[in-house]
Amino acid sequence: MIEKESLTGRRNERRKLVAFGGEIELGFINLGVRVANLLVAEEFMNRELGISLADLAAYLKQHAETMMLELEKRQNADGIEKVYYFLNDAQTYYLATVDNGKPRVRPFGTILFHDDKLYIQTGTGKNVVRQISENPAVEICAMLNGAWIRIAAELVEDDDHDVKVAMLEKMPSLKGMYSADDDSMKMYYLKDATAVISSFTTEPQVIGF
Ligand SMILES: Cc1cc2nc3c(=O)[nH]c(=O)nc-3n(C[C@H](O)[C@H](O)[C@H](O)COP(=O)(O)O)c2cc1C
Repeated sequence: MIEKESLTGRRNERRKLVAFGGEIELGFINLGVRVANLLVAEEFMNRELGISLADLAAYLKQHAETMMLELEKRQNADGIEKVYYFLNDAQTYYLATVDNGKPRVRPFGTILFHDDKLYIQTGTGKNVVRQISENPAVEICAMLNGAWIRIAAELVEDDDHDVKVAMLEKMPSLKGMYSADDDSMKMYYLKDATAVISSFTTEPQVIGF
């Protein structure tokens, strides 16, 4: 329900209208003006964009449902899936390898959860591939919403065609550079991994997988 005292100015009024759509008290807000505005908006959208308000409402409802499902998945995730969502949502993580006994770090973004394994992807011929073949011990670091994750693991190469296809389907922009049908891409999964999620306000959470 709308709190009357919170409806003091135009901004509050509009915010309540959005948040509590169907529960606006009749008489308190001039619904007539709003309906007229909606009709003008409907006419404009039909004319300029060829879509109706009903279509837009259906789209937004579906979008909201998808977002709620995605949120629920994250809330329920633990173990390796929690690590997956962290890296996926962070979008960029930093992969450290060992190069002739010295650290080497670079940004990465590919991440895939497939067959209960966490995969990263790179291109054949990159220095990072040579470093991993010489020493598969890596660390990964990323930040998300004020928390950070550090993962120590071994990388294991997986040449499975299905894994490559799944990676390209999940991140279609890779298709411009890589194919599952030649030797252009390398897939690695994380083995014997220890992930620690930390923040300044919570106890570190340790996840092994
Ligand atoms: C945001 C971002 C994400 C990246 N993601 C990847 C990735 O997932 N895989 C990859 O091979 N290269 C990725 N790169 C490019 C690598 O960082 C780059 O090729 C790097 O030089 C590879 O390391 P190397 O020079 O030791 O081989 C990304 C670059 C940026 C800026």
